[in-house]
Amino acid sequence: MDTTTIMTSTAKAHTNIAFIKYWGKKNQQLNLPTTSSLSLTLDKFYTKTTVTLDDTLSTDALYLNNQKVDATRVHQFLDVLRDELGYFPTLKINSYNHVPTSAGLASSASAFAALTGAVIQELGLHLDTCTLSRLARRGSGSASRSFFGHFAVWHAGVDNDSSFAESLHAPAMPIALVVAEVSSQQKKVGSTEGMQRALTSPDYGNWVNNSQQQFIDMQSAVMAADIEKIGTIAEANAMSMHDLNLTATQHPFTYFTAETQRILQIVDDLKHQGLLAFATMDAGPNVKIITHVEHAQLIIETLNNALPNLKLEIAQSGPDISYE
Ligand code: PMV
Repeated sequence: MDTTTIMTSTAKAHTNIAFIKYWGKKNQQLNLPTTSSLSLTLDKFYTKTTVTLDDTLSTDALYLNNQKVDATRVHQFLDVLRDELGYFPTLKINSYNHVPTSAGLASSASAFAALTGAVIQELGLHLDTCTLSRLARRGSGSASRSFFGHFAVWHAGVDNDSSFAESLHAPAMPIALVVAEVSSQQKKVGSTEGMQRALTSPDYGNWVNNSQQQFIDMQSAVMAADIEKIGTIAEANAMSMHDLNLTATQHPFTYFTAETQRILQIVDDLKHQGLLAFATMDAGPNVKIITHVEHAQLIIETLNNALPNLKLEIAQSGPDISYE
């Protein structure tokens, strides 16, 4: 009988949506951003990852939703962790994404945060959360923010050690996000590629300056729980991020589709009717509408009437990373 006890470690991290975006790297190898960013963690969508040290394996093995996958990005990230932490044996990783494709959200933020948390726990290391955030940043920039519930800020920093996220310790507020999934036939431009193109825009320097001011203003709005101000700044920041893609001098592009434009028009109409409704978008055509929880249902109904096939979800503020 095999009496060996297999130790495993499990971490659960939620996705986050940036209200002040990360859109450009000043150091690609280290994933150092050109600007600081600020996000809201979502309750509905998360990744749960279990890690087991297994030195019988010749290489790290990754299973995503029970399917073995060959994930270069994860292998590269584990190499970074071995560089940073010293040698550790091969790992078996089981990851489950509760970020349904129907929600149209990227899962890399929750995935790299959960992976980092589970690996560190499995290695028996006691690192503070800001250090975990710094490490996860190397897998995916936005993952640095997914350790913290509610609102988080990622300080751009100047080097590997000074670029990490932390909690904003913001007051509770009745904020909600309506997530609208837009079907897209367009070929996807990944975030790293999109950022590289955006950097060639003549407006990029201006965007960095404006973003720094918006980051300061957004922190005040969040601490004051002023949803209208939060939404106004987030929308302006997101739209100018997407303008950079259009004005790139190398391979200009857009994530917007006709359906995206239609949703943005409806959001505008709702705003003029006095509702709290502000749009933000990431590296894809989906629209996330920042609103008050009490307005969310009406926004869903209005979008449903105009676009009956649109998939819609309501998310609210989510928790810190947790461990089992
Ligand atoms: O972390 P990445 O490499 O997937 O980049 C995220 C980029 C945006 O989602 C567009 C903005 C952000 O700050 O999350």
